[in-house]
Amino acid sequence: MGQTYNIEICLGSSCFSRGNREVVQIIRDYLRKNHLDDKVVLRGARCMNRCSDGPFVIINDKTFTCIGVQDIEKILEKELA
Ligand code: FES
Repeated sequence: MGQTYNIEICLGSSCFSRGNREVVQIIRDYLRKNHLDDKVVLRGARCMNRCSDGPFVIINDKTFTCIGVQDIEKILEKELA
């Protein structure tokens, strides 16, 4: 299976300070733990001007809003299955 995934995480100051600082670390650990490093391209994004709906994570063009540290693993399990 040559499928690759794209994860874009907003690292603008609002999203970053409201949780994405931790979330980006959780994603990195998750990818490493599950040997997904070479299947997933993880990129930090700049503010998407939708801060009030943030923090944002985009996985393969699907936008997840109001992400919290408690949600992200479940989302990864589902989206990267
Ligand atoms: S900081 Fe993420 S949308 Fe503005």
